[in-house]
Amino acid sequence: MFDTMTVTKAVSAVCGSLLIFLFASWAADSLYHTGPAEGHGGEEVAQAYTIDTGAEEPTEAVEEGPAFADVLASADPVAGEKVFGKCKACHKVDGSNGTGPHLNGVVGRNHASVEGFGYSEAMLATASEVWTPEIMNEFLTNPKGYVVGTKMSFAGLPKVEDRANVIAYLATLP
Ligand code: HEC
Repeated sequence: MFDTMTVTKAVSAVCGSLLIFLFASWAADSLYHTGPAEGHGGEEVAQAYTIDTGAEEPTEAVEEGPAFADVLASADPVAGEKVFGKCKACHKVDGSNGTGPHLNGVVGRNHASVEGFGYSEAMLATASEVWTPEIMNEFLTNPKGYVVGTKMSFAGLPKVEDRANVIAYLATLP
């Protein structure tokens, strides 16, 4: 069985590591004080650094301008045809494809559904989705952000009015 020396060694080893542990956690506590700022006498002590995480700021609703649905409701297809000038380099509306697929009847059409057009893998992966005005609004805001990997090299239309107008124009195309 164990002799006294072995037991003593074992006990002191355990106590030693407990002490180290206690000391380490005390040191960590005093370095990274997490509780309320209080000195040993119980008086308030100013924190050296106060990191403002903004957690206690009241969260205000972010102003995002008019909602897309409202803008679309009063969108102007004639103004949209002008905006479409930015798309014409790649998209035709006579049923033939260019750099991009033709956009006849695109509103309400499934993604990547023009036969014979070589879509990107990324666009093909979304083929079950329909181009609703809302989804097209998301896509046209930031094409490469919305369909990551799309081969449509177009930065996007930052103005909600431009997006609504061009979508209203596309919706008039047979
Ligand atoms: C530089 C060429 C280029 C420009 C400019 C461009 N597109 Fe595209 N567009 C493409 C290509 C290429 C695709 C196919 C993307 C893919 O397969 O990833 C595409 C795809 C699309 C699709 C999806 C069609 C489908 O059949 O799924 C829509 C909608 C679209 N573009 C709208 C527009 C609109 C609206 C504009 C103008 C505001 C525009 N594009 C400007 C090249 C362009």
